[in-house]
Amino acid sequence: MSVKYQSNRYTRIEDLKKNDLIAQEQSVKNDKFYYPNYHIAPKYGLLNDPNGLIYHNGMYHIFYQYCPNGPFHGLKSWNLLTTSNFIDYVDHGIVLHSTEFEENYGVYSGSAIIIDGQINLIYTANHRDPKQGYKRFPYQMIAVLDDGYNIVSKRVIYNPNFDFHTEHFRDPVAVSSKQLMIGSQDTAGRGQIGFLTYPDSNYYGQPVVEYLKSNLNLTSYMIECPNWFQTEDHDILICSPQGLESDGDNYRNIHDVIYSISALGELLTMSWSNPKYAPVDSGFDFYAPQIFNDGKRTIMIGWLGLPDTEYPTDEQYGWSHMLTIPRQLRIKNNKLLQTPVEEIYNLFTTYQHHQSNFQLTGRGFHVKFSCQADFEWNLGNKQYYLKLMRKNNKVVLDRSNCQLQLSTDFGTERTVSISDEQFEVECFVDNSALEIYINNGQHVMTSRFYIENLDMMWFEAIEDLNIAYTNGINIKENYE
Ligand code: FRU
Repeated sequence: MSVKYQSNRYTRIEDLKKNDLIAQEQSVKNDKFYYPNYHIAPKYGLLNDPNGLIYHNGMYHIFYQYCPNGPFHGLKSWNLLTTSNFIDYVDHGIVLHSTEFEENYGVYSGSAIIIDGQINLIYTANHRDPKQGYKRFPYQMIAVLDDGYNIVSKRVIYNPNFDFHTEHFRDPVAVSSKQLMIGSQDTAGRGQIGFLTYPDSNYYGQPVVEYLKSNLNLTSYMIECPNWFQTEDHDILICSPQGLESDGDNYRNIHDVIYSISALGELLTMSWSNPKYAPVDSGFDFYAPQIFNDGKRTIMIGWLGLPDTEYPTDEQYGWSHMLTIPRQLRIKNNKLLQTPVEEIYNLFTTYQHHQSNFQLTGRGFHVKFSCQADFEWNLGNKQYYLKLMRKNNKVVLDRSNCQLQLSTDFGTERTVSISDEQFEVECFVDNSALEIYINNGQHVMTSRFYIENLDMMWFEAIEDLNIAYTNGINIKENYE
């Protein structure tokens, strides 16, 4: 746990000292190696879950959990970025933060919906009572935004009722105008997907609390950030169960994300008949994704990071974590496919072809190649490198030779099984971030890695390697 600025952990944003913020901003500027240039990261402090993703008035709205106080989990707010093309962004700064009694320990994750033409944010207010040993009370709230992203009103839509759940009851998302789905821990300490069903539209009246009647047998003590979407034939559930047991090569992280596909319309009946689930991402660092639809496609953005995990340079450089590239989701042959939204490719214009090892000239790039059965791909320098390879019909991402190590208790390799003789790989490298898409998004591996000198790429049994560098996304600030 980072110690610098720890005394500020729960300081309200209006009371944060300007000098501390300037010092933090300076630390971020000192980071010449790891701060991303085309992934969204906090200006300073900590980012975690994407929140309130919504397409409205021709703009994509991307909020995220933000703690400007320092590179640690403290008093959370929602920061907003908007974009029309996933390349040029406006950073509107903190839009939602603690102002009410119910929110005294932060505004936690949630989603957005349009009501009467306005963006409404539905979220968890994290209340702690100092008189009861800081016991947590998870209220659910709704906040209305005006067109200038000012909060015009806030209202409580659920008072915690510990007959139904513990203090872990959060991350609401709309299922309909009268129903929310919510991450829960039941009174027996099991992870559950909860529902709040209201008598009246727009979440008015006293809601009924129920749980998903599910055949999914998740060994979880808390399910965070449930999400869902529909295709013509299916309902798809995505959630972040905490404490899921490892299963062979799957679920090796401290916390993982799963998806399950069931019959169309099932979720609306608060049931789930398919017992099967699979990992959304097979890398080291992926959690709490959120899904939305822009009228043309279903898009998911995840947190490129993990809870309860120390990242090696956060304290030194004063910032933590980033969001993944927005990914389009499709279902094919009963499997989830994830591909970067097509706009991302506009970041990469000029491709160079390489047949053998070569010197890198940048740290932000897209590389694509075809692999034969037992290939090897390395990135770094003679001393420190990241390796992707195949052995025994498994593609292995190995970060044991990176310069700085993290979470080694959870292993230094992540694996997916691929028996094809020939397959396609795309890697998005961004200073310390890596997203690997295999066979058109059939498998995705998302990870951080830490190597100061990314000098070379060397490989074997790889054909048609093409690389394009990028100058990154543009972010304009629109706040004081
Ligand atoms: C997931 C999570 C959510 C919570 C938020 C707080 O990473 O723990 O369940 O709302 O982060 O920042």
